[in-house]
Amino acid sequence: MERIAVLTSGGDAPGMNACIRAVVRTALNNKMDIYGVERGYAGLIKGEITRLGTRSVSDMIHKGGTFLRTARCPEFKDVEVQRRAAEALSAYGIEGLVVIGGDGTFRGAKDLSENFGIKIVGIPGTIDNDLSYTDYTVGFDTAVNSVLWAINNLRDTMHSHDRVCLLEVMGRACGDIALYAGVAGGAEYVLVPEIPYNLDEIASSIKKSYLRGKTSNMIILAEGAGNRDEIAAYIQEKSGISVKTTNFGYIQRGGSPNMADRILAARFGYKAVEILKADGDSCAIGIKDNKVITVPFSEVANGGKKFDTKLYDIAHVLSL
Ligand code: ADP
Ligand code: F6P
Repeated sequence: MERIAVLTSGGDAPGMNACIRAVVRTALNNKMDIYGVERGYAGLIKGEITRLGTRSVSDMIHKGGTFLRTARCPEFKDVEVQRRAAEALSAYGIEGLVVIGGDGTFRGAKDLSENFGIKIVGIPGTIDNDLSYTDYTVGFDTAVNSVLWAINNLRDTMHSHDRVCLLEVMGRACGDIALYAGVAGGAEYVLVPEIPYNLDEIASSIKKSYLRGKTSNMIILAEGAGNRDEIAAYIQEKSGISVKTTNFGYIQRGGSPNMADRILAARFGYKAVEILKADGDSCAIGIKDNKVITVPFSEVANGGKKFDTKLYDIAHVLSL
């Protein structure tokens, strides 16, 4: 394969730029032509495609977001819309495509490769870490570290005022950001969609700890685990202790990628181009036990994330 393209799709994630850089530089090193597609599938169906060179990705490795931009493109589920994407690629003589995104992006890639025979390699890039076949996705580690920064700051002010803090973090239907940040940040309670919780028990435990002299508590709430304001109001009413809420929001999706995400991006980008260069089958790349792996899209798209219940138990024990 001599000519390929790269795009980013779905929510942006720290490390996407480092990943594009790895794809571009590996392709050029293999004497392949490399093109960038703007705004994911939305840009692809409009033919927003430009040639990239080694300098296109200069000074990019440390930047959050994605310089190719990203978009949601709901109409991409329609096979006739996918046909426009295939035609756009063929107009440029592009034989293979690297897509960087999450499970939705991979569903689009599966359709495009199966319906139109385009060779596609998927790189997991999302802060949510919600893909079951891979231990980590590009962007997750940086996002968790950003949440840790928020937890540290919130601890200072909550402790000073004897308050309970409820911090909501992202993750869609996956509790990994909340779990990892909760354990690393020493949170007393971690509420995730994967594990049922009892608000009466939490309120009563907070009240008891207050009477023992522990006047500040940290609750981390994954966005998919319930309504922030309703939970806070309920706990406050039942415990009689002031609960302040913070939604960390989009701050956790931006920012300079850390070492773990840059290394993952480099390994994934390099591997994706190797596969296309060798005319390999369409697949998704992941990491298992620190080894880069490949998996057919059919095994990726519908697999729910296996939640780390052991780490959840550890969070509970350490919070006592
Ligand atoms: P992520 O890739 O991070 O999960 P989305 O769920 O928004 O983000 O998916 C990104 C894009 O992938 C969507 O905007 C759409 O263009 C495409 N996509 C999602 N689901 C499908 C599907 N079932 N079939 C085809 N394309 C899809
Ligand atoms: O997939 C990344 C993510 O930030 C999720 O954690 C969140 O649910 C969603 O994207 C938010 O999407 P949007 O950018 O469309 O508000």
